[in-house]
Amino acid sequence: MTTSSDDPAREAWAGEFFDRWYAALAAGEGHDRPDPASWRPEELRAELARGTDHDVLHWLLALDDDGTAAGAADVRVAVHDNRHVARLQIAVPPGSRRRGVGTRLLAAVAEVAAAAGCSVLRAETERPVAHPEGTWPGTVALRRWGFAPGLVEARRQLALPVPARTLDDLEAAARPHAAGYRWWTFPDAVPEPDVEAVAGLMARMSTDAPQGDLAVEPEVWDAARVRSGEALRRAQGRRSWTAVAADAAGTLVGYTTLVQSAHEPDRLQQWDTLVVAEHRGHRLGTLLKVAALRAAVADAPEATRVSTWNATSNVPMIAVNEAMGFRLDELCEELEAPVADVRSALAARDAVRR
Ligand SMILES: CC(C)(COP(=O)(O)OP(=O)(O)OC[C@H]1O[C@@H](n2cnc3c(N)ncnc32)[C@H](O)[C@@H]1OP(=O)(O)O)[C@@H](O)C(=O)NCCC(=O)NCCS
Repeated sequence: MTTSSDDPAREAWAGEFFDRWYAALAAGEGHDRPDPASWRPEELRAELARGTDHDVLHWLLALDDDGTAAGAADVRVAVHDNRHVARLQIAVPPGSRRRGVGTRLLAAVAEVAAAAGCSVLRAETERPVAHPEGTWPGTVALRRWGFAPGLVEARRQLALPVPARTLDDLEAAARPHAAGYRWWTFPDAVPEPDVEAVAGLMARMSTDAPQGDLAVEPEVWDAARVRSGEALRRAQGRRSWTAVAADAAGTLVGYTTLVQSAHEPDRLQQWDTLVVAEHRGHRLGTLLKVAALRAAVADAPEATRVSTWNATSNVPMIAVNEAMGFRLDELCEELEAPVADVRSALAARDAVRR
């Protein structure tokens, strides 16, 4: 059977099912990965408790007859834009695999997506770089389910602390290319005078960063969306450090953000980094990342590493990261399938079995 968190039963669902849901998710998505960067249960619980202003969330749990969790899934449908896409995760613990649980959860996910009016399912699967994709269960299952590759991202990690000399040398080499620009950092919330401009930059992440063959529409951001994201982060126990850059006229042209969870203090996560297309070539990417890292490490000396994800086609960003000392360890493949195709393939399969 599967059970879902859909309103109005969300609170009751959180009480009865969340712990089993999380245990199945973590066991499934963490299997055979030395360092999965899964969200902590406290972060997900906060999201389930308060909801988000960005996404409509659906949480699904597959249970065996004795009530044991056999698999977990969630579906997210954006509110502001890209409402045609249902982003999903499905995870089945190793002991419950190859029994059709993943397929059953996909069928439930596809129904949720169709009811939400979505036309596209988007999923991702992450694997250690040394593991061949042909035998990675996530990749094999998604292809079997009719998903086609959309974007490949690579995760790189940077061991902390980085020698001060490395950052000083990178900054010194970059500065001469950035004449006329200035940059600065702030922790947590964006200062009020810059919030609209930062919202504008965030929108450009969806148009100016590589998206491969994914069905991505330009995102719609305003100050309220930035503020609601900050409120969610606070509720989840996350803090952040952002560096922004401005041109000679004072217009913001780039930013980067590092995030730390109180529930996983040893990891800094690299979130967005963007320099708008017309201001590239001034080493602002390097200068922003060096500034943000210095600020984060000063406040969070307990962090032992930084994790970052980049499209494998994003040569300039990867070059900046490797110069800082980031090293490749995982690949993250994003795949998509039409909702209608998945539903009809699953229905045809069921018909054959009857
Ligand atoms: C992917 C995953 C959810 C599959 O769960 P599951 O319960 O084993 O899935 P099913 O039993 O329904 O199998 C689905 C299909 O994938 C194929 N498959 C799954 N794992 C496989 C493996 N290790 N080798 C070969 N084929 C595999 C199966 O053959 C099956 O097709 P078929 O039975 O019609 O031939 C599970 O391996 C997992 O949790 N992986 C980690 C998280 C992840 O990558 N999720 C997918 C992206 S959201």
